[in-house]
Amino acid sequence: MERISDRMKTTRVLSIFGTRPEAIKMAPVVLALNENAGVESRVCVTAQHREMLDQVLQLFDIQPDVDLNLMRPNQNLSELTAQILQSLDPILTQEKPDWILVQGDTTTVMAASLAAFYRGIHVGHVEAGLRTGDKHQPFPEELNRRIASVTADLHFAPTNLSRENLLREGIDERRILVTGNTAIDALKLITAKPAPDLVSGWIKEWGITDGSKRLVLVTAHRRENFGEPIKQICLAIKQLAERYGESLEIVYPVHLNPNIQEPVKNILGGQNGVTLLPPLEYVALVHLMKAATLILTDSGGIQEEATGLGKPALVLRDKTERPEGVTAGVLKLVGTEAPRIVAEASRLLDDRTAYETMAHAANPFGDGNAAQRIVKGILDFQP
Ligand code: UD1
Ligand code: UDP
Repeated sequence: MERISDRMKTTRVLSIFGTRPEAIKMAPVVLALNENAGVESRVCVTAQHREMLDQVLQLFDIQPDVDLNLMRPNQNLSELTAQILQSLDPILTQEKPDWILVQGDTTTVMAASLAAFYRGIHVGHVEAGLRTGDKHQPFPEELNRRIASVTADLHFAPTNLSRENLLREGIDERRILVTGNTAIDALKLITAKPAPDLVSGWIKEWGITDGSKRLVLVTAHRRENFGEPIKQICLAIKQLAERYGESLEIVYPVHLNPNIQEPVKNILGGQNGVTLLPPLEYVALVHLMKAATLILTDSGGIQEEATGLGKPALVLRDKTERPEGVTAGVLKLVGTEAPRIVAEASRLLDDRTAYETMAHAANPFGDGNAAQRIVKGILDFQP
């Protein structure tokens, strides 16, 4: 017989995240958890990122219940992993969640899912099942997400392709829910907001508003691109700036990782036609993407957003775990060698037909309602 106390029992969910992209993609989930009366929602940030995380927390008005404040300058992966495991364990015993939720493939995700497994706490993995099949690309994310998959009790796969990847690895199909990617939920929430004055001002000042210039947006930060690949990417940007002169504005909000800051500033600092910016608030970045003609990126999340917005994006990698955007025709993999990047970008800037073929919005990554499906998935879970 059902008791009143059973009916009133709430599910305790601790959302754990640490970096900018996790915060952006978990924000819609945290908002949906907060609104559900059957859930007691708590948030723990590892603060694997500091400034770049805080920008997102502020934007979505999320006040963490626990902040581990773990970021150190130029942190290495073993230290960071050890710190997360050690700092999180007492939080898990104190908070006693029924579930932890993690998102994606960072070191925070890998270490938090392991810590929860050690404590016998259910793990829900948001954005589960993305794979390149190459453990070194992206590094260390491909391994991080595989570890999250073996610890998880519920896998929130964004697409059918990611579900199939999980099935191939022997994951029980009853534990996989195809939800769409919460990146699209976040994108919908944010595109509804007007462009910040700062961005409208820049776009006008650069000559984008009156059509005298076209905007190319660049982001690059991946660990496997440290060293020669990031130099090649910068050389490609320099060559594009020189080739197109006054007709192009290339804008690069530079990730705070010192391994990126240094080569980018050395090669591109003071270059005519190139504006280097600090990491931008998410609303600003979204409005710059909307104003851009072309995106060059090695980011994961921007591949999903570019596809959703129908902005042609050249992906500065050899492999992607988001082939849905390539199939949709909005993304193209171009690697990290300067001559290829310059050739592919020039083709899109010079050949209208080639450009129009890529420039159409597609929705393979979701319909913007992933967060609600994730909350329902947790509440409906039958052990
Ligand atoms: C991390 C993730 C990567 C994700 C990326 C998103 C890992 C191993 N990597 O890479 O999967 O794509 O975040 O941006 O989990 N820094 C700051 N302030 C910040 C953030 C970073 O100064 O707000 C600097 C610090 O010196 C820090 C360094 O960047 O030590 C590296 O940060 P880390 O989180 O280890 O790696 P990312 O390259 O940011
Ligand atoms: N982003 C942002 N400001 C920036 C650069 C990126 O808000 O200056 C957003 C971007 O729109 C996307 C997310 O950050 O939602 C992607 O983060 P990043 O590229 O650092 O990580 P990845 O997705 O590669 O893990």
